[in-house]
Amino acid sequence: MEIIIADTQEEMSKIAADMIERQLLRKPSSVLGLATGSTPVGTYEQLVRRHKEEGLDFSKVITFNLDEYLDLSPSHEQSYRYFMDHHLFNHINVDPKNIHVPYGHAGEVEEFCEWYEDEIKRAGGIDVQILGIGADGHIAFNEPGSSLGSRTRLKTLTRQTIEDNARFFDNLDEVPRFAITMGVGTILEAKEIIILANGAKKAEIVAEAIEGPITAQVSASALQMHRQVTVIVDAEAGSKLKRADYYRWIFEEKKRLVPRLIGKVT
Ligand code: PGA
Repeated sequence: MEIIIADTQEEMSKIAADMIERQLLRKPSSVLGLATGSTPVGTYEQLVRRHKEEGLDFSKVITFNLDEYLDLSPSHEQSYRYFMDHHLFNHINVDPKNIHVPYGHAGEVEEFCEWYEDEIKRAGGIDVQILGIGADGHIAFNEPGSSLGSRTRLKTLTRQTIEDNARFFDNLDEVPRFAITMGVGTILEAKEIIILANGAKKAEIVAEAIEGPITAQVSASALQMHRQVTVIVDAEAGSKLKRADYYRWIFEEKKRLVPRLIGKVT
């Protein structure tokens, strides 16, 4: 893993956007795995700005989102489809038919999940997957105890996740209890993964996921088994990392000597 401790959330977002931009220049028809939540918003803002001001082209890009609440219509303001439209899709030139966000009802959820996995394969697999991390260590909605080999499926959210997400709803009862989510196994098949975290409340779990043991109790720890992961955190989220000095030193040396290798595990 490459671990980058950025000074600020803004720098974190820029580094992630730089990596995605490089990917799109290298392969305009890239398949991007996308995440919702507050963490990637700054990265999406950067990408929108680069599209509008610098012509960064998304016309051939295919996207797959990680997860979506069960039974929430795409037009619901708290649905992840709505979030993605609002923060990214409406502002770039991605072809709507290339956008995939899970959507399903309880009755047909298994068929949907199989179809979603097949669609990812048909697209040639995910080139770059963006992730956030939940306070309980989840990636997508793979709550503690999720099999490290899990595939796209229905998950019941933990109380903590429901409470964390309640800020977006009028009250706790309105927060959906179930979600369709890519599995840890699905995520690990992405060719490259960028995981982002900012803020002091993520410091503990970031350290556990990166420097602790690989365990199904912390889904993000499974990323330690992936060969091309870049962890980008701000100073607060990186504050509990034991080897922070070493990670900082690598980052400084790369900036000084070989900037093109930032985000390339070395
Ligand atoms: P956040 O959520 O970006 O809103 O902190 C992250 C997550 O739950 O994956």
